[in-house]
Amino acid sequence: MKKEIISLNILLFDSETELPEADKNLLEHAHQAVERAYAPYSKFKVGAAVKLANGEIILGNNQENAAYPSGLCAERVATFYANSHYPNEKVVKIAIAAWSNGKFTKDVITPCGSCRQVLLETENRFDSSMRILMYAQDCVYIVNSIKDLLPLHFGDEKLKV
Ligand code: THU
Repeated sequence: MKKEIISLNILLFDSETELPEADKNLLEHAHQAVERAYAPYSKFKVGAAVKLANGEIILGNNQENAAYPSGLCAERVATFYANSHYPNEKVVKIAIAAWSNGKFTKDVITPCGSCRQVLLETENRFDSSMRILMYAQDCVYIVNSIKDLLPLHFGDEKLKV
């Protein structure tokens, strides 16, 4: 048996102010998106802002449902909207932020497993990696590809025999 440690590339910022302007701007959009979330059940509001290659910014937020599994996370609402309206525009970045009890979370909000899989598909369909900005009150995590959040991923290349 051999044991291997898989590393991931992640940038850790102590504050939003350290970020490049374009990243700060996208995070501000994610903050705005949080306010419009529909989360009456969990009370956990999530906002996502997707930046396209043409410069367009698309907002999305979590949309819950009394039949809980019918709801959808912010990242997928924003990404699916972007991909359905602009099927030929690469997604270059996504920023996410979340509120709990009316305040931005102390812990960084990271995409759930299903959202990671959808973000992987988006990277693959445009053959272009996506910068992912994950916000918390006192820090921001950034990865430059979903592959850093989804090691040993399953993508379309696995379907090719
Ligand atoms: N949620 C998101 O929108 N994005 C995430 O990355 C994690 C979870 C939503 C789903 C549900 O509406 C609420 O947060 C609580 O899980």
